[in-house]
Amino acid sequence: MKATAIEFQNVSKCFDNANKNAVNNLNLTIQEGEFITILGSSGCGKTTLLKMINKLYEPDTGEILIFGKNSQQLDAVELRRGIGYVIQQVGLFPHMTIQQNIALLPKILKWEPARIEKLVDDLLTMVELAPAEYKNRFPSQLSGGQQQRVGLARALAADPAIMLFDEPFGAIDAITRTMLQDEILRIHYELQKTFVFVTHDINEAFKLGNRVIVMNGGQVLQFDTPEKIIQQPADPFVEKLIQSAITQQEFWGRYK
Ligand SMILES: Nc1ncnc2c1ncn2[C@@H]1O[C@H](COP(=O)(O)OP(=O)(O)OP(=O)(O)O)[C@@H](O)[C@H]1O
Ligand SMILES: [Mg+2]
Repeated sequence: MKATAIEFQNVSKCFDNANKNAVNNLNLTIQEGEFITILGSSGCGKTTLLKMINKLYEPDTGEILIFGKNSQQLDAVELRRGIGYVIQQVGLFPHMTIQQNIALLPKILKWEPARIEKLVDDLLTMVELAPAEYKNRFPSQLSGGQQQRVGLARALAADPAIMLFDEPFGAIDAITRTMLQDEILRIHYELQKTFVFVTHDINEAFKLGNRVIVMNGGQVLQFDTPEKIIQQPADPFVEKLIQSAITQQEFWGRYK
């Protein structure tokens, strides 16, 4: 049986100076190996939820369990080593080559140089960047989509059990974005790790997630498989979301 990777129990968080909770009484359970997407409009609490998983934020109330352990009792640095984190701004170090960027954490962990070299080559191949061509370049010598691939490779370098993605493809053109979505599905299939992926794009959320969390106003409105959400939206907001996607599709269909 698969383990429970992430569990939120009655989790709320209110930022200083805010008059309401950024996330409000979240209860959710994510199994090991799932690909969970979190969908919701700007400001609904997606990033706050994600950052509580790797302890960049602490909840005010409630508990977060990571593989059964209360995250409050876990050391933040140690925890983050086991949780890859990919964000839209990528955040590669500009003065380091691609190879050095990806090798950062394995170096801290004092891996043998030969093992690191092989790992970097393997990871670059996995994200479809030819190692010989790219590993000695600097981030500024790569396109945005290529930098995002390196960001993904770097996050995978320490072989984390959990991967968090915060709108990683938000600034990428539609064609490249579709390609990256297909690749991330393949990588998830190959690695069978737990992925939690934030997006405000309904098509992306329903394409990638085996289950989708729909949020609004700091709350989870529905957490279910794409089929179930489409067939039985649990809330008028969810219904509106799905209707907007259908309307958009119809628009394209009209001219095809
Ligand atoms: N560090 C912070 N300090 C104060 N308020 C914050 C902070 N981070 C987020 N908030 C507030 O908490 C709420 C949720 O923000 P969050 O960043 O989680 O939203 P989001 O769903 O990720 O939005 P977006 O799609 O725009 O990234 C917002 O009202 C936001 O203004
Ligand atoms: Mg956000």
